[in-house]
Amino acid sequence: MTKERSGAPARIVVAGAGLIGQAHIERILREPEARLAGIVDIDEKGAAQASALGVPFSKDIDAMMENARPDGIVIALPNQAHFAAGMAAVHARVAMLMEKPVCETAEQALELAEAAERAGVPVLVGHHRRHSPIIQRAKEMLASGRLGRITAVNALCWLLKPPAYFEGRNSWRREPGGGPVIINLIHAIDDLRNLCGDIATVQAMTSNQARGFPVEDTAGVILGFRNGAIGTLALSDAAAGPWSWELTAGENRAYPRTTESCYYIAGSAGALSIPRMEFWHHGAHGHWWTPIHTERSSMPDQDANGREADQDPLANQMRHFCDVARGKAQPILDTRDGAQTLQATLAIHEAARTGEVVRLG
Ligand SMILES: NC(=O)c1ccc[n+]([C@@H]2O[C@H](COP(=O)([O-])OP(=O)(O)OC[C@H]3O[C@@H](n4cnc5c(N)ncnc54)[C@H](O)[C@@H]3O)[C@@H](O)[C@H]2O)c1
Repeated sequence: MTKERSGAPARIVVAGAGLIGQAHIERILREPEARLAGIVDIDEKGAAQASALGVPFSKDIDAMMENARPDGIVIALPNQAHFAAGMAAVHARVAMLMEKPVCETAEQALELAEAAERAGVPVLVGHHRRHSPIIQRAKEMLASGRLGRITAVNALCWLLKPPAYFEGRNSWRREPGGGPVIINLIHAIDDLRNLCGDIATVQAMTSNQARGFPVEDTAGVILGFRNGAIGTLALSDAAAGPWSWELTAGENRAYPRTTESCYYIAGSAGALSIPRMEFWHHGAHGHWWTPIHTERSSMPDQDANGREADQDPLANQMRHFCDVARGKAQPILDTRDGAQTLQATLAIHEAARTGEVVRLG
C-alpha cells in the first residue's frame, strides 16, 4: 500500500500498554505519519517494551509529557483512569486519542470537554468503527436517500466469551462496569448514532442468568431515535451465533469471519444489511406485493483524501489522529459526541433497573 507522508511525523506517546495499547503501538510503528515517542504504564512490562523499541518509559503521565513533549497521547488505560489522564493531557496541552468509553460518567466527559475546549486541546474518542470503510459506505448510502426515510433498525451482538475471559486478572469483567453493555454494545450504540442520528429514549431488560455474575450477560434494548426511527438491539455474551460485528466485519483476525450481517436498517424506500451491504428494494412505487430486488454495494478503494483506503479501522483512526495532533484536522468524534454515546449506553442499565423509559437530554 502506498502512503504518502505529509510533513514531520506526529510524535505519539501511548499510555497503557495493555490489550488495546498494543494494537495502537503496532499501528504507530506501521504508520509513516507517526513516531512512537514513549510508553506510560504502571507495570514494568511497559519498561521492557519501551527499552526494546528505544523510546522513553515512565509510570507517570505528567513526567512523560514534561520530558517527551509529544504531539499526541493515546490514552488506553482502564476506564477509571480516563478522566485524570485526559485532564493531565489538557494541562500539558497535548492532543489525545481517548479510548472508549470516553470517561466513566457523562458528567466527567463534559468536564473534560469544557477543560479541553478552554485550553484548545483536541480530543478524538476511540470509537474506531467510525473509521471503518464498511460503516462509512453504509453512511454514504443512508445519506444518499436511497433507503428513504429511516423507520426501523435492528442490531445483533451475540458473542460466546470463553471462561478465561472472566478469570484471574480479568475478573473485573464480572462486576458492574465490566459487562457486555459497556464493553461491547457501546460500539453498536455509537455505530447506530453515527448512521441513524441522535437517540432520544432508551428502554431495556437485562439478565445475568446464563453466567450468574453480578453484571448482565444478556440484554434487550429499544432505542427511540430523534427522527422517529425505532431500533431494537439484542446482546448476549453467552450466545453462540454468527451475528455480531466481531464475527462479520472481518476487522480483527482473532475472530472467525462469517459472511452474515449484524445490522439491518430499513426505510420507506429500501433496506440495508451491514456488513454484507445488501440493499433491498421494491423499485419505484413498489410495495410488499411487488417483486423485491437486491444489489450489493462494493467497498470504496480510496479514502476521503483520495488515498488508497485501508480496511483496518484502527490504522485509519491512527492516521486521522496524526492529522489531529499536528493541527491538520478536527477530531471526527469529540468528547461531547463520545459523551452522548456513553449516556445512551449507561441509560440501558438505568432503564433495566427501573423498568422506565429513560429520556436523554
Ligand atoms: N476500541 C476498542 O475496541 C477497545 C478494545 C479494548 C479495550 N478498549 C478500551 O481501552 C481501555 C484499556 O483496555 P484494555 O483491554 O487494553 O485494558 P488492559 O488491562 O489490557 O490494559 C491497561 C494497561 O494500563 C496499565 N495501567 C493501569 N492503570 C494505570 C495507570 N494508572 N497508569 C498507567 N498505566 C496503567 C495496565 O498495567 C495495563 O498495561 C479501556 O478503556 C477499554 O474500554 C477499547
